[in-house]
Amino acid sequence: MRQLWLLALPIYILSAQVHAQSALTPRQQEGQKILMTSCGLCHEKPDILNPAVAPHLSRSTLGGHVDDIIAYIKTGSNVMPSFKYMYNDEQLRSVADYIISRPDEAAEGHKANDKK
Ligand code: HEC
Repeated sequence: MRQLWLLALPIYILSAQVHAQSALTPRQQEGQKILMTSCGLCHEKPDILNPAVAPHLSRSTLGGHVDDIIAYIKTGSNVMPSFKYMYNDEQLRSVADYIISRPDEAAEGHKANDKK
């Protein structure tokens, strides 16, 4: 019976992760899901050695203007598809909200190297 605490350990780790996640609002969590599904392919680094083909999306994207970000996603560009028919306004707002909650790349790099 002494090993019983071992069973509790994964549950503890899991709940800690859920807790870390909840730093995002429900809307931002929805946006995060959309970003990972539809945008990550181009906008997230495939791995440490390969650069992403598209710019990192963060609070500094388009000056952090939610409406500009939404307009961009709706329209797309000659290299980026339009998501106008794929996501409704509510979903696009979620993605934009999530994007402006993310630190910019320089800040992330700084954090990773900061050993304090
Ligand atoms: C096929 C690759 C691809 C996909 C998928 C893609 N993008 Fe892009 N995106 C790009 C590229 C490349 C750029 C660089 C600017 C340009 O030429 O459009 C860009 C630019 C942007 C910009 C403007 C960034 C800036 O600083 O000017 C925003 C905002 C953006 N993408 C959001 C998104 C979101 C949100 C999604 C998912 C719903 C997404 N993109 C999916 C390729 C992609």
